[in-house]
Amino acid sequence: MTKHAEILLECSGISARYGHIRVCREVNFSVGAGEIVTVLGPNGAGKTSLLGSIAGIVAGEGAISVRGKSIDRLPAYRRARAGLRLVPEGRGLFGTMTVRENLLLGSRLAPEDRRHELIAKATQLFPVLADRMEQRARDMSGGEQQMLAVGKAIAGDPTVLMLDEPTQGLAPQVFDILRRALEALRNDGMGIVLVEQHHAFAASVADRNIVLVNGQIVHSGEAGQILGREALMASYTESEI
Ligand SMILES: Nc1ncnc2c1ncn2[C@@H]1O[C@H](COP(=O)(O)OP(=O)(O)O)[C@@H](O)[C@H]1O
Ligand SMILES: [Mg+2]
Repeated sequence: MTKHAEILLECSGISARYGHIRVCREVNFSVGAGEIVTVLGPNGAGKTSLLGSIAGIVAGEGAISVRGKSIDRLPAYRRARAGLRLVPEGRGLFGTMTVRENLLLGSRLAPEDRRHELIAKATQLFPVLADRMEQRARDMSGGEQQMLAVGKAIAGDPTVLMLDEPTQGLAPQVFDILRRALEALRNDGMGIVLVEQHHAFAASVADRNIVLVNGQIVHSGEAGQILGREALMASYTESEI
């Protein structure tokens, strides 16, 4: 991100909780236009809960704004309408619906006159979707389903895209396709938050990294500064003592 890039997502003092149990606290970060921020951290650190709190599907506190507009008092569907889109861990597809139907559903968050163009953009990024328009989502491979999940989000013209472990369980060939898609979206000026366990994948696309341990940020920095695997492991361990 250049220094003067517009801030698309600003989060401050974010928490996430299940009942009275707080699993994230005081998380502050922002994402600029054309920037990919990766959120790293061990299992159970609170990465999924953090994205859920920002998206409005997990309870939490804190100030969240998209393009300067405060959204933290809005329910999840209105946060989505405000431009914030989450591709969840389970991909959030409708398995019995076709590729076309899933893309159409995603595009309903965009103005009607742009839907066709946005679906075309999704199929350009992931040409396999264009070949499978009438196939049911559940009959596709894991990699194809992940492409559809991202494509469905793109069809809704997000300002900020949040992805929860998109590479999980996928073949390495799919990594390249996803990486190129994320790079293309970044070049278009989208803001991207990427939760990843695959550190090599994260490092290959990140502009900035955040490391979350026990629900708190223990490290944040430009991608170039971190993170060798050893340094990352050390930051996990230090904060767990
Ligand atoms: N639905 C839930 N109810 C209660 N606790 C949960 C729930 N989901 C996650 N947790 C707890 O919140 C913590 C953070 O989990 P999670 O956000 O899934 O971490 P990560 O995505 O980094 O692996 C864990 O201790 C987990 O057990
Ligand atoms: Mg998770």
